[in-house]
Amino acid sequence: AEVRFGSTEVAAVAPVVGEQQAPVHETPAADTVIGLRKKTFSEILAERQEQAKRTVLINCPLEINEKKLLKYLSTHGNVKNHFFYKTHAPYAVIEFSDADSIASVQDSIHTPHFEHEGFVPFKSRIFTLTSRNPPNVAAQEPSVHHHAQTIMRFGDLMPKLCGANSMSDQLHILTEAFQLTEENIRLRFLVCSLVQDIAEAYFPGCVVKPFGSSVNSFGKLGCDLDMFLDLDDIGKNFGRRKTGPFNLEYLIKRVPTQRVATQRILSAIAEVLDNCGPGCVGVQRILQARCPLVKFSHQPSGFQCDLTANNRIALKSTELLYLYGSLDPRVRPLVFSVRCWASAHGITSSIPGHWITNFALTIMVLFFLQKRKPCIIPTLDQLKGLADPEDKLTTEGHDCTFVSNLNKIEPTRNTETLDVLLVEFFQFYGKFDFKKYSLNIRKGKEQLKPEAAALHIQNPFEKNLNVSKNVTAPFLDKFVTLAQESAWLVQEKQNGPSSMPWGLAALLQGPVAQNANRKVKVNRAQTIQQIRGLLDSLKSNGLKGERSYSTQ
Ligand code: CTP
Ligand code: MG
Repeated sequence: AEVRFGSTEVAAVAPVVGEQQAPVHETPAADTVIGLRKKTFSEILAERQEQAKRTVLINCPLEINEKKLLKYLSTHGNVKNHFFYKTHAPYAVIEFSDADSIASVQDSIHTPHFEHEGFVPFKSRIFTLTSRNPPNVAAQEPSVHHHAQTIMRFGDLMPKLCGANSMSDQLHILTEAFQLTEENIRLRFLVCSLVQDIAEAYFPGCVVKPFGSSVNSFGKLGCDLDMFLDLDDIGKNFGRRKTGPFNLEYLIKRVPTQRVATQRILSAIAEVLDNCGPGCVGVQRILQARCPLVKFSHQPSGFQCDLTANNRIALKSTELLYLYGSLDPRVRPLVFSVRCWASAHGITSSIPGHWITNFALTIMVLFFLQKRKPCIIPTLDQLKGLADPEDKLTTEGHDCTFVSNLNKIEPTRNTETLDVLLVEFFQFYGKFDFKKYSLNIRKGKEQLKPEAAALHIQNPFEKNLNVSKNVTAPFLDKFVTLAQESAWLVQEKQNGPSSMPWGLAALLQGPVAQNANRKVKVNRAQTIQQIRGLLDSLKSNGLKGERSYSTQ
């Protein structure tokens, strides 16, 4: 498969063959192998971060001549890649071969002057391009292709799903239609890099890294951009033994706890994003949450961003999810489809509340895959056993060690098809004894619940935390009933192709869709529940104690 990006074509990795495979699959990451070796998560991250540093964002006129623009920019250096997209306005993403070209562009441009307004000058990497051509000439420019950054309407996907040959194919079609595109991933890294430029003014040497669904390979177009401010490289030098007669240290501010430090750091960044950050609007400081964060919208990209700090474990759990998603070609389509199914039925939501988070739901799918016979993915303890010395990591007292080299993990002998797995997933959770057991992906088996909670899913690294602490008993009942109904529905309507929704198409429409009145009632109930959830979370003082983590 090939992913087209700007003017170059980059070979994408075809997933390793298994009988369960559908005809065409493109993985979103364009370049994830070196020779025969699969790149590690950190290598991919570092490469994309470096790429983002050489990239600028240009707000373009509606009609723009692509060739002329590239020629104009090439006076500053070679343009390696580029693409166009449209949010509230059209933009071009321009990747130069050399980061120095950006300084050259910045030196040649000026800050706009407003007669009746003040302005905060800021030398960012977001520019506005205006055409000197009179509008009637410009209007005749050949139009450029704008890459979609939002999800296609579900209704538009329906005929494709109905026309598929098997349910496995449907799962692949859904994944390909909704997954993050190469361009969208680049844009996500660029936004992190732009926020890093701002944060660096306060903390030279800091890095802003994406985590969560932007990089765990399960992200849907339009999902939030979780990012974290990594100050480790600055902190790392603290306490390092120096040779010679003296010891030099930075004078630093002391605060009572690390949590207070994180709050201060985020508060400072929020202030600068709010007052000076180009394109950053709607900045909200949610500093009392268990994991303090700053929410804001990045207007040029259209991303809703959640910025956290000192959140290294979240990056490790993201890497773990990425690793599981890369191990077997069935994992991504299954997780992806279950996430879509859950979102279609209000099991997950982007508003904090009593819903199951996508993170918790993903762990549920992974746990189910560990329970297959033979297992489809290894347990976290097995991954730890395969770790190389350089993979060893303890963060905040938690052991986060697991193998980073994907090539060391043996492929599974399990050959079940996705058709079977989806039905079995619903059946598994339709009859799981949630009252008694907790889900543990470290061991790959259920364990007696250590504490009273409707749904108990042990956090893979912080073993004393329940990933789904926020989920209430009635909500879990809803999930179980839906899983049972879905298992039944999907077996009943498994045969395609057909003009009527069948298989996954029927599932995503949901049993509720068959009865208009019932649907209205369910929608109303969902809305009421959503408002309740929102009020509860506001009451609990910016989500404090509500969830073990709060960036949903
Ligand atoms: N996380 C966590 N504990 C939770 C929830 C989240 O540690 N209870 C961490 C995980 O590392 C997760 C990240 O925070 O990958 C982002 O969480 P969230 O935004 O809820 O999940 P995503 O996978 O990003 O899904 P979504 O598309 O809903 O944003
Ligand atoms: Mg997220």
